[in-house]
Amino acid sequence: MQTTSEIRSLRSQIKAWRQAGLSVAFVPTMGNLHEGHFSLVDKAKTLADKVVVSIFVNPMQFGANEDLDAYPRTLVQDQQGLSERGADYLFTPTVETIYPNGLDAQSFVDVPGVSMGYCGGSRPGHFRGVATVVTKLFNLVQPDFACFGEKDFQQLQVIKTMVRDLAIPVEVIGVPTQRDVNGLALSSRNGYLSEEQKQQAAILFKTLNWMKEEIQSGQRDYAALEVQAIARIEELGLKVDYLSVAERNTLKAPHADDQQLVILAAAFLDKVRLIDNLTLDWS
Ligand code: PAF
Repeated sequence: MQTTSEIRSLRSQIKAWRQAGLSVAFVPTMGNLHEGHFSLVDKAKTLADKVVVSIFVNPMQFGANEDLDAYPRTLVQDQQGLSERGADYLFTPTVETIYPNGLDAQSFVDVPGVSMGYCGGSRPGHFRGVATVVTKLFNLVQPDFACFGEKDFQQLQVIKTMVRDLAIPVEVIGVPTQRDVNGLALSSRNGYLSEEQKQQAAILFKTLNWMKEEIQSGQRDYAALEVQAIARIEELGLKVDYLSVAERNTLKAPHADDQQLVILAAAFLDKVRLIDNLTLDWS
């Protein structure tokens, strides 16, 4: 697997593949890769002839008090995992390459509606940073397909909306969340947790499943359900940031007859912010 941090090399490789009539699938990441990311690579390989992965810890999507500097950077390990998994090309641009004039002078992409609330509410500017960098990466790689994890459900909806609104010629593919044996969603941030904390954190997904069962058994008082669910999670020592039942496509509060739902949640365990979600249908 070839690795480059240069835009020129990336572009000439993409051009050569295009001239040979080959299709390209893209997996953008921030590195510190785990099985969740590798499952995106596996999916990408089924979609196109060539798979490009990027690793870029994007400063624009981190708030002032977030973990940008502490964010784990594990390039050698990531490279090894990616070549074992059969990725074809790795793009690892520097911050100067992506934002040559600095963050303040950078044009940006804002996606209204689905960016509001949930992670968008707790992390102001986060989705502007995500949408901007993903647009730029799409313009650099010009993929036919791009794979994103469903764990970041709101992010996936933001990117799908952006691609539709701006007519970006890429098909966005959501890939199911990978979980550990306790059900905890795999995340680079799990590396901050001890084994004991990982067991504790599993209450998040357990509670989402409990809510799903309640709704599928006829519970329609979502507000009451949310209150009970928050109590279950906080009893185990986590602090809930948000936990809401939403309509799956718009992420708005569901109308009584909306049957395609998603439960979105974020909670802190000490200083580690964990997110998860569960989709469900009822009829
Ligand atoms: O999900 C991530 O790792 C990031 O938000 C992404 C999509 C790579 C943009 O920086």
